[in-house]
Amino acid sequence: MKLDKQDVQRALKTISAPGEGENMIDSGAVKNIVVFGDEVIVDITISNPTLQAKKRTEVDIMKTIHEQVYPKAKIVVNVKADALAKPKNEIKGNPIPGIQNIVAVASGKGGVGKSTVTANLAVTLAKMGFKVGILDADIYGPSIPIMFDVVNGRPLAVNVDGKSKMKPVENYGVKILSIGFFTKPDQAVVWRGPMASKALNQMIFDAAWGELDFLLIDLPPGTGDIHLSIMQSLPITGAVVVSTPQNVALADAKKGVAMFQQDSINVPVLGIIENMAYFTPAELPENKYYIFGKEGAKNLSEDLKVPFLGEIPLVQSVREAGDIGRPAALQTATPIQEAFENLTRNVVQEVVNRNEDLPPTEAIKITTMAGCSAVNK
Ligand SMILES: Nc1ncnc2c1ncn2[C@@H]1O[C@H](COP(=O)(O)OP(=O)(O)OP(=O)(O)O)[C@@H](O)[C@H]1O
Ligand SMILES: [Mg+2]
Repeated sequence: MKLDKQDVQRALKTISAPGEGENMIDSGAVKNIVVFGDEVIVDITISNPTLQAKKRTEVDIMKTIHEQVYPKAKIVVNVKADALAKPKNEIKGNPIPGIQNIVAVASGKGGVGKSTVTANLAVTLAKMGFKVGILDADIYGPSIPIMFDVVNGRPLAVNVDGKSKMKPVENYGVKILSIGFFTKPDQAVVWRGPMASKALNQMIFDAAWGELDFLLIDLPPGTGDIHLSIMQSLPITGAVVVSTPQNVALADAKKGVAMFQQDSINVPVLGIIENMAYFTPAELPENKYYIFGKEGAKNLSEDLKVPFLGEIPLVQSVREAGDIGRPAALQTATPIQEAFENLTRNVVQEVVNRNEDLPPTEAIKITTMAGCSAVNK
């Protein structure tokens, strides 16, 4: 059998590159097709730089040629990612209808307060009038259901445009989906990267989130494989990294920042948050004790040239609020509520800054927010 270039071209017209609506021939993604004997070489340039997208493109092309042209064809696919070929927003854009911004909350080290920060950021954003969701992606120990007092919540199935979707559980104006809703509390689940990212993908793409200004993702601690697969499969707007001022936490936070910035992930780091910055006893609110060291995370953000988003003191009421399931930021006019409000403003500002680099259609749709130079494009 002699392979024919036109047949190959016709077959590739039936598939598109990831993130591109048009087929890969008409979109110009396929740069060259060389056919000799039973061998085919396809050169393709795609705008999505993730390893996953490259792999998928390669597999799609091979499968299509084998199925539609010649089952025994020897195929070589050269996939190049050309991030500059398209505006940035089409790489990490907004492919989930209705969800404007996805913000990942990460830390290198465990137990530094990611979930606490996520929960309090979410309720503060909701108080400011934003539509907010949390995806609790902590496969090791999902704690968002406890922090929102919805441990027994179960997402119901709802019908959206003829498709069955998961309806997030809601409390304090925040929509929540947690990996914890699908596992028994005392059941140890050993998740592998691909399994975890599949479950998380379903919780994003097969969920009835409705319109959201922000979807916060509470990531598991660490910087392992699981993070890579989560990050590569989700269109994350930006990440915030939580650290305590302690050296061990800072070293891990540095790894966290590096993880987001590596080429295959390339998620903008919105900034660093210093949690447990100092201890303040309730009866002596003016006293600050720097038990984990002073301004470590702030200094780190300067070293790494990423924004410093704010500091949250170590106070008993934050821990208690987490345990009872009513985030401390829901309090009115207390120092801790104000600390979370400042932090949230800075996070919103950094999201706005990040989105200012993008064409208007992708810019964050914020119209009102007192005290924050909101962008309305
Ligand atoms: N600023 C704070 N003041 C007092 N307690 C805090 C503060 N931040 C977090 N905690 C408490 O510290 C513990 C760990 O916090 P949290 O669960 O948010 O950390 P994490 O980084 O999400 O942990 P993991 O890595 O296990 O997911 C919790 O009991 C929480 O209530
Ligand atoms: Mg956590």
